[in-house]
Amino acid sequence: MRTQVYKINPNNIEQDIELLKKAGDILASGGLVAFPTETVYGLGANALDEKAVSNIFTAKGRPSDNPLIVHIGQVEDLNPLVQEVPLKAKKLMDDFWPGPLTIILRSSQRVAKTVSAGLSTIALRMPAHPIALALLKEAGVPVAAPSANISGRPSPTTSEHVEEDLLGKIEVVIDGGSAGVGLESTVIDMTTDVPIILRPGGITKEQIEKSIGYIEIDKNLNEEVQKPRSPGMKYKHYAPKAPLYIAQGDEVEMVKKINNAISNYKSKGYRIGVLTNNQHKDLYEDVLIISLGDNSNPSELAANLYQGLRQFDNTKVDIILAEGYREDGVGLALMNRLKKAAGNKYL
Ligand code: TXA
Ligand code: MG
Repeated sequence: MRTQVYKINPNNIEQDIELLKKAGDILASGGLVAFPTETVYGLGANALDEKAVSNIFTAKGRPSDNPLIVHIGQVEDLNPLVQEVPLKAKKLMDDFWPGPLTIILRSSQRVAKTVSAGLSTIALRMPAHPIALALLKEAGVPVAAPSANISGRPSPTTSEHVEEDLLGKIEVVIDGGSAGVGLESTVIDMTTDVPIILRPGGITKEQIEKSIGYIEIDKNLNEEVQKPRSPGMKYKHYAPKAPLYIAQGDEVEMVKKINNAISNYKSKGYRIGVLTNNQHKDLYEDVLIISLGDNSNPSELAANLYQGLRQFDNTKVDIILAEGYREDGVGLALMNRLKKAAGNKYL
């Protein structure tokens, strides 16, 4: 298959509305279209079309027990897809939609069976990106969309990343520039008495608690468990090709651990990459440095993480050493992805 790339300026959707209409038609009639969202690029298929949805799993090499998020363009589109909308869920939609929050509700089983991978619940999100919203409107159907990467690889934050992974396997990639947040949406289960965050993301626990009060975080968030509440969390994720180790502790301790590891691996002849930030990048010598940006700005560090991990894949390093960050606010999501990428390996 020849993948078409549609370049669309997110700041002037009207100018490219014909391309968006075409992409919308392709989606509605069963094709796969990758598109930018405010978190990462998504790979969309008509959620009502069993065949189209199963093509997503094939294109990504995604395990079939890992359910997909259904994307909608307006809140009204939700009603046919769910059994009920609890009051707190409604409040979250009012406060955070469109935006990087995925809400799990009881499913009406209207979407294709493969979307929820046999679960009785459905994950829903209204993305905030102008191209995503316009595309959903043109498609006129709910759109199932996982991140547009080969399963296991870092999620794509640019259309180039999507092309690296999926060229020739899907009908269209919409190139709309860099995704903003850079990490996937927060996933919250609203079907339990106390809501539970299954995946931390762009909307923080602190923000959600301000809106609806006490919530919990899945106990197994960073662990590799056999049957997590969010099936996708059990798989190896975001992993660069070279093994990745995280250094934790206070600043002095962390830098020391990394420098000790550098001299140790150097003596074995390893080529070493260090994932750090602007403030610390001069503390390591004679290694490949990738900086995630300003150390005091967790949103910036998060936005650059996947790009950084992919960059190591395009260089020839044998081992990657990464600095750890505080696990609050966006830092919780940043560290969750970094720990998954490392497979929980620490210096
Ligand atoms: O930001 C995002 O959410 C991006 C963009 C494209 O919207 N999408 C995304 O999709 O990250 P994906 O498929 O890579 O991650 C979906 C996550 C998986 O961990 C999956 O297991 C979980 O959501 N999930 C989906 N439906 C679920 C359900 N009914 N119950 C529990 N977890 C669910
Ligand atoms: Mg993904």
